[in-house]
Amino acid sequence: MAYQTIRGTFDILPDAHSSGGSTIQGAAAWRWVEGVVRDAMARFAFEEIRTPVLEPLELVARGVGGTTDIVQKEMFVVERSKESYVLRPEVTAPVMRAYLEHHLEQRGGAQRLYYIGPCFRAERPQKGRYRQFHQFGTELLGSDDPRADAEVIANLRAIYDAFGITGTRLRLNTLGDAADRPAFRDALRAYFAPHADVLSATSRQRLEANPLRILDTKDERERTLLADAPRITDFIGDDARAHYDALKGLLDGLGVPYVEDPLLVRGLDYYTRTVFELESDALGAQGALAAGGRYDGLAQAVGSKKPVPAVGYAAGIERLFIALAEQEVVLPEAPRPDVFLVCLGDAAEAAGFGLAQTLRRAGLAVDFALGGRSMKAQMKAADRSQAAVAVILGDDELTAGVAQVRDLGASAQRTVPIDQLALALTRDAP
Ligand code: HAM
Repeated sequence: MAYQTIRGTFDILPDAHSSGGSTIQGAAAWRWVEGVVRDAMARFAFEEIRTPVLEPLELVARGVGGTTDIVQKEMFVVERSKESYVLRPEVTAPVMRAYLEHHLEQRGGAQRLYYIGPCFRAERPQKGRYRQFHQFGTELLGSDDPRADAEVIANLRAIYDAFGITGTRLRLNTLGDAADRPAFRDALRAYFAPHADVLSATSRQRLEANPLRILDTKDERERTLLADAPRITDFIGDDARAHYDALKGLLDGLGVPYVEDPLLVRGLDYYTRTVFELESDALGAQGALAAGGRYDGLAQAVGSKKPVPAVGYAAGIERLFIALAEQEVVLPEAPRPDVFLVCLGDAAEAAGFGLAQTLRRAGLAVDFALGGRSMKAQMKAADRSQAAVAVILGDDELTAGVAQVRDLGASAQRTVPIDQLALALTRDAP
């Protein structure tokens, strides 16, 4: 084989197939997932936004943040005539760019946006982790109301409920406001510095650049240090605390379960106040099904003069498929044609070709074999297509102005005038 998909990427084929030890579902299953997501978004009055896959490198570097793994080592960079672009590693910074660029605040009120599309990160591929992966997500821009936070979390919950996914936990934390951060960082540095010998090289670097990320460590030795580490809750201001309390009250009122986790910090720099992650028993080490939070400082980080309070989340579709498989949810398969035309002889072939278009205009999905194959080969192809019926057209039928309609499931056959086929078959179609 001459060429193959790039490591960490995959094709979505008409049928499910196996790629790198994982099942990649067929296109019909992806469409179904996207449909369930779109329906839920509509019920929450989120409107779709589509942004380019290519974005300015600066936007991502400033938006996602220079100390993050994404910006430091995972960006796919495209250089062209002195410009640097990146394949978007996430969609929050692009959506904020679009909001600012098109003055979407002028539409009035808070903007409820959602997206579905591919993202790119040069991570080490493994189960549930790809280099091109797909996210759906929401961004609610222009409000600092805790109900906005509760609304996106309720939307996230509603979507996983719609898929019938159980065995999930929503971890919730607050990171306070940007102004609360320096004192917390200092406290973390002071706490971890005497233990520098226990810290990994990565954590030692983080100690300087972004000590909050040490709270995120998976390293067992480091984790033992965390029990006594300073807690953000001791550093946050009254406004951020009131916001967090209000959010928890709203979630309690809705009956949306969550677990408070003071160690949840997230790997992107733009978060303020609320952060959350939806974990699943199905994923284990593969990480979160979905994650998000509030990012009141992002607009100004990417050049806005005015702050734009905002909150959102993104969910990985590949990981959703893992959870669906774990729950043995039956996924839709590629749709089958209504009709498979079997044509014998040159005249029938010519008439059949026109008949296919007529039946399609009547709304039927019609397939036929190309290349003048034998009756046997065409009937085999009809069976393989799993069409509801085969319409058989030979020279004799053509002369009589009829066709044989064979029900492929039950093998029953009847004769139908050609000019009544569209009517007869649309009446039968499910
Ligand atoms: P994130 O946590 O980087 O957040 O990604 C969100 C979700 O995307 C993850 O929970 C995971 O399901 C999926 N994901 C991330 N990386 C990969 C990968 N390499 N392979 C497969 N799935 C992956 C964000 O992207 C933020 N923009 C979320 C957000 C929206 N915050 C506010 N608004």
